[in-house]
Amino acid sequence: MSETDRLLEQNRAWAERKRAAEPGFFQKLAQQQSPKFLWIGCSDSRVPANEITGLAPGEVFVHRNVANLVVHTDLNCLSVLHFAVELLQVRHIIVCGHYGCAGVRAAIARQKVGLAESWLHHVQDVQSKYAAELAAIADPLRRERRLCELNVLEQMDHVCASSVVQEAWTRHQPLSVHAWIYGLEDGLLRDLGVSRSGVAK
Ligand code: CO
Repeated sequence: MSETDRLLEQNRAWAERKRAAEPGFFQKLAQQQSPKFLWIGCSDSRVPANEITGLAPGEVFVHRNVANLVVHTDLNCLSVLHFAVELLQVRHIIVCGHYGCAGVRAAIARQKVGLAESWLHHVQDVQSKYAAELAAIADPLRRERRLCELNVLEQMDHVCASSVVQEAWTRHQPLSVHAWIYGLEDGLLRDLGVSRSGVAK
């Protein structure tokens, strides 16, 4: 069996299990989706949004890119944000980074990674902004972990500053924005404790 045939076979088995556990599951989902959460995370294969949060299909709207960046001119991310907030009316936006992020690591190392280099300039901007704080951390691994956290906090700020979120808050739509980070080594999510809701600036 080819590598991709295996996926199709696993899919058939999964769909069968779902149908057996909850008859009508797919018919119901096919009618509409009403997820309460928008997840903005890293593309890293080790951080699958649904799986680590125990959410079923239909429960989380997902946008992932390298190093979980929210760039004000990124039409892709902005469209997801707009769709999630205005049409799906999600209640929570979770920006989730992870320790050991290869994108963050490459940005620190000023590694030559082709096209992704320009994308990772956004992480380097975060690094420059917090240069003093980072320089005070002697251990390189701890410094890298802190940059992973700072990057999430910065991207969360971008979400909050976006016109989509500002307008939602202006019209008193219930919407909270959260910054989380995931540990590859223990499978645990940590809330960075800076959630914001409903205050337009
Ligand atoms: Co990553």
